[in-house]
Amino acid sequence: MQPLTARPSPALAGAPRIPGDKSISHRALMIAALAVGESEIRGLLESEDVLRTARAMTALGAELGRGADGVWRTWGRGVGGLAAPRDVLDFGNSGTGARLALGLVAGHPLSATLTGDASLRARPMERILGPLTQMGARVVAAEGGRLPLTITGAAPPSPLRYRLPVASAQVKSAILLAGLSAPGRTTVIEPAPTRDHSELMLRHFGAEIEVEAGEAGRVVSLSGQPELSGRAVDVPADPSSAAFAAVAALIVPGSQIRLAGLGVNPHRIGLYRVLEEMGADLAFENRREQAGEPVADLTVRAGPLEGVEVAAERAPGMIDEYPILAVAAACARGRTVMRGLGELRVKESDRLAAMARGLAACGVEVEAGEDSLVVHGRGVRPAGGAAIQTGLDHRIAMSFLVLGLAAERPVSVDDAAPIETSFPGFADLMGDLGAKLVAGAEAA
Ligand code: S3P
Repeated sequence: MQPLTARPSPALAGAPRIPGDKSISHRALMIAALAVGESEIRGLLESEDVLRTARAMTALGAELGRGADGVWRTWGRGVGGLAAPRDVLDFGNSGTGARLALGLVAGHPLSATLTGDASLRARPMERILGPLTQMGARVVAAEGGRLPLTITGAAPPSPLRYRLPVASAQVKSAILLAGLSAPGRTTVIEPAPTRDHSELMLRHFGAEIEVEAGEAGRVVSLSGQPELSGRAVDVPADPSSAAFAAVAALIVPGSQIRLAGLGVNPHRIGLYRVLEEMGADLAFENRREQAGEPVADLTVRAGPLEGVEVAAERAPGMIDEYPILAVAAACARGRTVMRGLGELRVKESDRLAAMARGLAACGVEVEAGEDSLVVHGRGVRPAGGAAIQTGLDHRIAMSFLVLGLAAERPVSVDDAAPIETSFPGFADLMGDLGAKLVAGAEAA
């Protein structure tokens, strides 16, 4: 356990380099492992989650490594060319790594056993195993279909037409990755659009993907058995990680920061839209494209925020950002109502419960429903002065540390170690901006 405390801080200033996008980093490694020839990945997120995916790709027969120049070079095995791993694949804390890898393995005639840490072993996998089994994969799992489990892929898998019962980019992506080996078209219909990094990355590597707006939702179709070839990928800065610095700059009076090269994929920036509705001063400039993904530079200036209503339909475009939005809401004036949060209960922790508990401990009035959260902001600094249990959840840890910077009294988290899974160097980066983060548990 590594306790960490955030003390009330003076104005934040600077232009930090936010690490690479986690979702895009996982996909770059996995799709490069299926491409023929060399791929070069710049700006890869070198966090625990992504490094585990890198190790898993090596175990599945791809050749890859980090050059002294920080560029990751990968020599893939071709679609259908992965080899059986000789050991268990351990994905640590990473739902994305484990779920997308299940899709990869499902499209290969090999068996692999996957496991993870206590948080990942408690998370639902059936949502992935259902469609992959329909494609021909066989699975031996413990009660409830959780990790650890052994999956044997089909040779070849059958093409599938599948309507997602939950809005999940991970489920969509796993089906598409399995569908790469299928003879024919694999189609995923999503009732609510989720992040489309898999579609963009597959296209970037040469796959044929069609996306249509159908009556039942967004229809994504992949033509199976494409020849993917090695490509260069420049990973944008992660808008989900940047959100912690951005909200810190909004709520610590007098702050101004600039975040360059930020991914602004429309399916990822829901939080920033909501913050603008709350009155946040956000300036996006220099819009451009990087490896098929839109990026921009963002300047954030502190200022007063007002409570808002966030409709359930917006959840897929900001699903990872509700914890930090709740922190912004705690510092805003008025009521912020967030609905459609059922999926928060099955993330790295039950984030709905964790936020409600932690905010209440920090003196913020909250109401938690089965899938909703209402935060009553008073337009003043929250009291703080609480010790927060993070339950192996990086985003809960970072959210409460940000709250502590703008609170009256310090806020401690019991374990900051999980932050390494997504945002290595978080404490140093925030410290460089002027945030007062100190080792140890100061708050009672
Ligand atoms: C992710 C999808 C989301 C998100 C996760 C990353 C991805 O999960 O919460 O952090 O990279 O596809 P779900 O697909 O379970 O919603």
